Amino acid sequence: MKHEFEDHSWVAFIEATATRGPYEFFHSAMEFVDGNRGAGRQAIDLGCGGGADTRNLLARGWRVLAVDAEPHARVALLEHTTPANLERLEIAIGMFDEVELPEADLVYAQFSLPFAGDRLGASTRNALAAIVSGGAFVGQFIAAEDDWASDPNVAVVDRAWIERTFEPFAILDIDERKHHGAGGPDGATKHWHYFHIRARR
Ligand SMILES: C[S@@+](CC[C@H](N)C(=O)[O-])C[C@H]1O[C@@H](n2cnc3c(N)ncnc32)[C@H](O)[C@@H]1O
Repeated sequence: MKHEFEDHSWVAFIEATATRGPYEFFHSAMEFVDGNRGAGRQAIDLGCGGGADTRNLLARGWRVLAVDAEPHARVALLEHTTPANLERLEIAIGMFDEVELPEADLVYAQFSLPFAGDRLGASTRNALAAIVSGGAFVGQFIAAEDDWASDPNVAVVDRAWIERTFEPFAILDIDERKHHGAGGPDGATKHWHYFHIRARR
């Protein structure tokens, strides 16, 4: 049975971030996968939100499957994507652990999988199973000291979980970060503690 996605609080986030520029995580991903050479390669923007990174990938020549459970993601993508790039864009509205994913050279999951909550394991397994040999995962996972860690809807992991989960990958770059900084589009600061992961199968 398919699960309904009931958390429509993401609509405001999608509106606020739809036209933002790329964050450093995206540049880090592009460096890891030689991302400016996207032609002929398939990316999955997992938890695409407002779609800014989907468009950043399309602009570099990638084919992109943009995935998000919130239906408003489709509205933002269609509103802001350059028409010429639409033929390389597919959109899947669905849950991370239920959506059918194609073989991918890159799964890009920028601060999205932690919001799978208690479905983190199945969601991450589905994401990693899509990655072809030589393909990459780049994304972040929330850790114990983060202000969001007390939210029951946010999955918290430790280094051992990361190492276990990415065990089949040939390269695993774990960048653990702790800092105070802006927590979202409203600019309020929070304490961050997360793992920025770059892995290659
Ligand atoms: C923090 S936002 C990140 C969006 C985007 N990656 C970015 O960095 O701007 C998390 C996104 O994941 C989506 N999401 C949360 N839980 C989900 C789930 N279980 N399945 C699919 N999408 C989900 C939300 O709708 C939201 O757009």
